Amino acid sequence: MEDRILTNEQLEEDKFEQNIRPEKLEDYIGQTEVKENLKIFIKAALMREESLDHVLLYGPPGLGKTTLAYIISNELGSNIKTASGPAIEKSGDLAAILSSLEPGDVLFVDEIHRIPRFIEEILYSAMEDFTLDIIVGSDSSSRNIRIDLPPFTLVGATTRAGDLTGPLRDRFGIISKLNYYTVEELTEIVKRTSKVLNSPIEEDAAAELARRSRGTPRIANRLFKRVRDYALVMGNGVIDLEITSLALNRLKVDSMGLDDTDYHLLKSIIEKFNGGPVGIEAIASSIGEEQTTIEDVYEPYLLQHGFLKRTSRGRIVTRKAYEHLGIPCPDNIE
Ligand SMILES: Nc1ncnc2c1ncn2[C@@H]1O[C@H](COP(=O)(O)OP(=O)(O)OP(=O)(O)O)[C@@H](O)[C@H]1O
Ligand SMILES: [Mg+2]
Repeated sequence: MEDRILTNEQLEEDKFEQNIRPEKLEDYIGQTEVKENLKIFIKAALMREESLDHVLLYGPPGLGKTTLAYIISNELGSNIKTASGPAIEKSGDLAAILSSLEPGDVLFVDEIHRIPRFIEEILYSAMEDFTLDIIVGSDSSSRNIRIDLPPFTLVGATTRAGDLTGPLRDRFGIISKLNYYTVEELTEIVKRTSKVLNSPIEEDAAAELARRSRGTPRIANRLFKRVRDYALVMGNGVIDLEITSLALNRLKVDSMGLDDTDYHLLKSIIEKFNGGPVGIEAIASSIGEEQTTIEDVYEPYLLQHGFLKRTSRGRIVTRKAYEHLGIPCPDNIE
């Protein structure tokens, strides 16, 4: 996946992303419903001088979960501490994080579905009663001790809400799903990025970039960066429609935002499995990708735009996909 320009995975060295992250709710574009609700809950928590209920944010990569977690802490005027599910390996890791919290803090746990189950239980009482139960001492003289924690807000993020256990999910008072952005919203995001980076883009170019960004701000911003390079080297620095189309064509991002990997996936199903239905395991091994990567990253966009259909017997490529790929479509395909 490393070469994929459309990758919506967050790259370690991506300082760029942090620089263009909106810091306040009013600068966070789109996701209107999620935003309106959060605005009220945050305001109510501030009025009551209580901590905000725990918040679970879920949705495909690059849609703004981490950004929103930071915004929540900014709006609350509190500090944010961060942790990541897979990095929590021992119960002591989580206990250490929890006992470092100060009143009103936001604890952001990314990839929360990847916390090992036996550690997850520590979170239950921490989230529910703000207490931490730990075992101290060695086998013969071990005893349970209970530590009171200050009130805090856990903000959990996950691309796979279905992988969360029931008890954990039930402890979140606010559960918000982030959806793919509309072209209009992404156009706004592109224009905002252009302002922040001080590199001008024309209206129709911003819209074109937005159309080809898979409904995903992270991709829109990455593509913006590349297109900006083309404008600088091949034009006069202003990003216009012509430069944008040329750059995106060269980057092999098509008019709907599909790239090589999407083509590979759809074509494999057509060529090797007669267009489906075919199970996800078979698709994964035929294109050499992880099943979860296909499910979390590639497939949601293809499903949403009707290139792919999920049935009880497996995935099916749709007529729309055949037509988009320019492959003759058999009569019996819808
Ligand atoms: N609503 C938004 N308005 C403006 N910019 C946004 C918005 N949402 C996301 N972005 C931009 O997109 C980039 C990616 O967002 P973010 O890192 O928050 O995604 P994520 O959902 O946490 O992804 P992952 O699942 O990979 O952790 C950020 O740098 C941010 O600048
Ligand atoms: Mg994130």
